Amino acid sequence: MFSRAIAIVSLLSFSLQSVTATCLLDNNAQKVAQNYATLFSNYSPQFADQVLTKDVIDQSDSVNWLITNGTNACSPLLGATTFNGREAFKAGQSTQPNMPFTILNVYHDCTNVFVRWNFDVKPQQVQGISVLGTKLNTDLTKLLTQPYLIKTVYAEFNVGAFIVNLGYYQGTKPSTCKRDVLGVEAVPFTA
Ligand SMILES: *[C@@H]1O[C@H](CO)[C@@H](O)[C@H](O)[C@H]1NC(C)=O
Repeated sequence: MFSRAIAIVSLLSFSLQSVTATCLLDNNAQKVAQNYATLFSNYSPQFADQVLTKDVIDQSDSVNWLITNGTNACSPLLGATTFNGREAFKAGQSTQPNMPFTILNVYHDCTNVFVRWNFDVKPQQVQGISVLGTKLNTDLTKLLTQPYLIKTVYAEFNVGAFIVNLGYYQGTKPSTCKRDVLGVEAVPFTA
């Protein structure tokens, strides 16, 4: 019985080592991107607990700007950490309505996932890019369901379109809309 327990423990640590030695695979990156999307499209604190590390760091000047309503007059200042830790992320996200979140592209390297995405909303879509740093899940019972957690988030998006949708900004149409007429610049570009 005892030696069997040892065998199981050494098997577990062996398989953990072989996973840690491995880079993100395409399907791991897709899963991380889907998890990130779900945090915005179908948020729940339980889901955040499953997919974010406890010490997750989120830095976004787009969000910092929106939180201070474009004033940079109170915390979080531009350049500062937006959410320091999972509880802070949850406190912020729980105040936001769910948004239709479309993933446009997913790329990855060994530990980071790069996502192009948009909030598919009217009148103006809000397009963004996020860099998601990942970490292998230390909860061995979750290695199959959620092998990689999100540990860092760097995200920027079109705040201009976002505040148009909020009704805080109304643009004025440029007097000449060359691209509307031809679909390309009327004046050819020459280097
Ligand atoms: C943000 O600023 C805009 C423009 O001054 C204003 O209309 C809006 O009420 C402000 N929103 C909040 C939540 O203070």
